[in-house]
Amino acid sequence: MGDAQEADLRGTEEDTQAPKQGGDPEAAAHRYVLPEDFFFGAAMSGPQTEGAWCVGGKLENLWDTWSNEDLGAFYNRVGSYAGNDFMARYREDLALMASLGLTTWRTSIQWSRLLTLDGSINPEGAAWYHELFRASHEAGLECFVNLYHFDMPTYLFRRGGWESREVVEAYAHYAELAFREFGDEVLHWFTFNEPTVEPEMRYQEGVWYPKLRDFGRARGVQYHISLAHSLAVRTFRRLQQAGEIRSDAKIGLINAFNPTYTKDDPSEADLEAVRMVGGINNRWWLDLVTAGKLPADVVKTLEDRGVCLPTRPGDEEILAEGVVDWLGCNYYQPRRVQAPQAATDERGHLRLSDDYHWPQARINKSRGWEIYPEGLYDFGLYIRDNYPGLTWFVSENGMGVMHEESNRDAEGVIADSYRIEFVRDHLVCLARAIEEGSPCLGYHYWGLIDNWSWANAYKNRYGFVEVDLGASYERRPKRSAAWLAEVAQTHRIV
Ligand code: BG6
Repeated sequence: MGDAQEADLRGTEEDTQAPKQGGDPEAAAHRYVLPEDFFFGAAMSGPQTEGAWCVGGKLENLWDTWSNEDLGAFYNRVGSYAGNDFMARYREDLALMASLGLTTWRTSIQWSRLLTLDGSINPEGAAWYHELFRASHEAGLECFVNLYHFDMPTYLFRRGGWESREVVEAYAHYAELAFREFGDEVLHWFTFNEPTVEPEMRYQEGVWYPKLRDFGRARGVQYHISLAHSLAVRTFRRLQQAGEIRSDAKIGLINAFNPTYTKDDPSEADLEAVRMVGGINNRWWLDLVTAGKLPADVVKTLEDRGVCLPTRPGDEEILAEGVVDWLGCNYYQPRRVQAPQAATDERGHLRLSDDYHWPQARINKSRGWEIYPEGLYDFGLYIRDNYPGLTWFVSENGMGVMHEESNRDAEGVIADSYRIEFVRDHLVCLARAIEEGSPCLGYHYWGLIDNWSWANAYKNRYGFVEVDLGASYERRPKRSAAWLAEVAQTHRIV
């Protein structure tokens, strides 16, 4: 993806004033049918659902440690401990997903549950995942398995975390053991979820434990995760050739791809901000998983501006093996940037952009994220045009809303028409991209069943299914669940 294409993604007044689906989204939606073999499913992660944080030999990960050290950092003081009680309720949840007409779902193996301190398999952890994959199969659901969802084991963090080569090697070892253990059960593997987000939240923006604010360190982490990803793909290919992984299994990467836009009539400096922000968040991963290398222009600009990646001889050969079979795109919101007011921030770290607040933006006020379904259409065409041959799916998309309990109808059911509208608008944009040739194979909704959302805990609810914290995590479908079931079963966007 070159500068020109990336610049083409900037919003212009013409394409951003009104959604392209026209003034009557419902009527427009009726025109859209998703392909027959398009899959619908649900995305979730181990640390946000499983609970049972310190039983069955599970080690602490950074979420547990942060919860133990500073519970007040979590909304309503709800720490990592219980997830949404999935380990106790997985059969019920799988049946629920199947009853809605879903055919696939994703979770993640927790590194801190599968391996012991000495890096060998924890038999209790392995038994749980074997049981989970068996139950999923019995429920008629294909389970997509991700190996890492922001859940660094704490003892490895204390040895340097993603800033350490030792930990990169430890991840490669963990991936190998997971492939060997579950290689004949799992069809769809993913190395990482959102490898851009952890560097940003933990090392750059000071949001997640240990709340660092260092742009350069964040890029080093991003680089090491790129190596870890590539080493895992290398091992996957080797084991598959040796017959230790199903011959039909595929491996991919999931990232939060935020189409990057700037203002109308941008200056050269605004476009430069788009190039670098889009380059680090999007192109970095797209180039890695299709060409086995990082975008040279981005690396060069970083170097020119004093941010050198922790490269070593032999790394290029490792990165070259990072090419995947397909890609997951988590899409929640676009990124809107403009030239930064200053070249460095208050701590003297490199600053590539300032946020641009588009006056017409529609915001989900609970989460503070812009709702812009067109971004999914733009991403679809971007892939079609710049990464031909790369198949993809929407691996997360969803709407988190606060205080949903105040939306109960006369029968006590949460009436979440806004969620239907959100998903419908995104599916319409996706259908348009597919019609125009983008090879998108499916859609996973994030948070089908309300789950624990990191420091926000249960503040914003994403689910089509409510989790009642006051009633032992009881599950109750919201009004939107019936709508989802109809769409998933008919493939018509009603
Ligand atoms: C994605 C993550 O970034 O967005 C999920 O993969 C996360 O883990 C989801 O929960 C929604 O974001 P949040 O912060 O509202 O939970």
